[in-house]
Amino acid sequence: MQNHKRPPSSLIFIFGGSGDLNLRKLTPALYNLFLDEWMPEKFGIVGIGRSEYTNDKYREHLFDGIKKFSRRRGEENGNWQNFAEHISYLQMDAEDEEAYQQISAIVKEREAAFGEHPNVIFYLAVAPQLVPDIAAKLGPLNICADTKCTRIVIEKPFGHDLQSARELNHLLSTMFDEDQIFRIDHYLGKETVQNILALRFANALFEPIWNRNYIENVQITAAETVGAESRGAYYEKSGALRDMVQNHMLQLMCMVAMEAPVSFDANEIRNKKVDVLNAIRKIDHASVQDFAARGQYSEGWMKGEKVPGYNQEKNVNPESGVETFAAVKFYIDNWRWQDVPFYVRTGKRMHNKSTIITLQFRPAPSFAFPREAADTWRPNRLTISIQPEMDIRIRFQAKRPGQDMTLSPVDMIFNYDEAYDEHEPEAYETLLLDVMEGNATLFMRVDQVEAAWKIIMPILETWQNRQPVDFPNYAPDSWGPEDAEALIARDGFNWVTLPLLNGE
Ligand code: BG6
Repeated sequence: MQNHKRPPSSLIFIFGGSGDLNLRKLTPALYNLFLDEWMPEKFGIVGIGRSEYTNDKYREHLFDGIKKFSRRRGEENGNWQNFAEHISYLQMDAEDEEAYQQISAIVKEREAAFGEHPNVIFYLAVAPQLVPDIAAKLGPLNICADTKCTRIVIEKPFGHDLQSARELNHLLSTMFDEDQIFRIDHYLGKETVQNILALRFANALFEPIWNRNYIENVQITAAETVGAESRGAYYEKSGALRDMVQNHMLQLMCMVAMEAPVSFDANEIRNKKVDVLNAIRKIDHASVQDFAARGQYSEGWMKGEKVPGYNQEKNVNPESGVETFAAVKFYIDNWRWQDVPFYVRTGKRMHNKSTIITLQFRPAPSFAFPREAADTWRPNRLTISIQPEMDIRIRFQAKRPGQDMTLSPVDMIFNYDEAYDEHEPEAYETLLLDVMEGNATLFMRVDQVEAAWKIIMPILETWQNRQPVDFPNYAPDSWGPEDAEALIARDGFNWVTLPLLNGE
């Protein structure tokens, strides 16, 4: 028996219950929480969807997902029956207002069975265009007036531009208190992302040098090997800037750049993050090309396999100008970061799947070694590898063994798998547990979402108004377009990639 406090009784309604997100991420996460004894003593999960399922068929369908997608890959399946008893399916047309009364009835019935009023959680795992309508139909239900126990969880994308994000926020605010709204950015639930706070604020070692006096540039890369594939229809309305930069990448940047919080209170942490977003220098429309580069992958070869170009994917316009790669240079105008460039890049069909953050330090102020010793000199770097490798590495110079004074860079590596026996929970496990516990620290507050949209709007508008003439402009299995190399090379730096194949 684990020695921890479980969350209060919870009843979770999943809109999009027959969909992909639930199959791949939500149910596996809830099942893992169950196996690790983190689910409440009393809980119920109700999948809501249009498809027809009996409860048994629905559970079977979800179990198939567990076998394919759970991090435990089907171990411990002996427990599935015990978990599955808590799951039921409600076939419902989410556009039919009357149908929402069934939800109220289920809440009443479970309340009686539990002998107490549970948290009621509405998880909207649906296409973004359905969110406002479902929220508007849930809002008037009596249970939603319970600001303490009823919560609504919303997946990104949160709006498709500043205006629509504001409208959605306004709509939600007419029905829910801000404390009831949990806007998910799953990057914030990743272990390695949360560890950035531990690294920075639980050690005296790093914080004194974590600023413009010592750091020359910061780079954040989120590279994926997958293409748009089955998500063409969604991606055509999104693109890399909306899909990754507005949310995940800017949130990573906040974790690196924020000031020390005075407590771990949800609002305190979020205040510190929003300060970063508000300090990001506005990129005006006329200078977008100096600060941002975009790309789209062509057809080609990916690890020996022929892959289509983005504009040949299903549900994609063959003339599409949508970017599958984006790189942006940001500045944060405050005392800590003034004039330190933050280079951010993300792309699909790139050479490696790898999300890394690198802080590159300034050169040593004076160099007393013989000139030959400097040939292999490289700047100090601290690299936080978020995924798939989970490690933190510090690069420094060492003397190569031998009679000559020759320097060469070495890496000191902390690796999660080597250091700890415990498995790392998946982001959705952490986030779902937080929702049940009512802890909003890792969720986006209204002002964070709007501040992030404000930052990217000039780039978005400029790119929309100026159709790219050179798309597709990068090959699969590469590191993106030439323009992205030029963006950083102009400042005398180069992108850091892991593994450090080139010794850079
Ligand atoms: C999602 C994006 O938010 O994040 C996807 O919509 C992207 O396009 C995914 O593939 C990446 O997440 P992860 O956890 O695999 O890095």
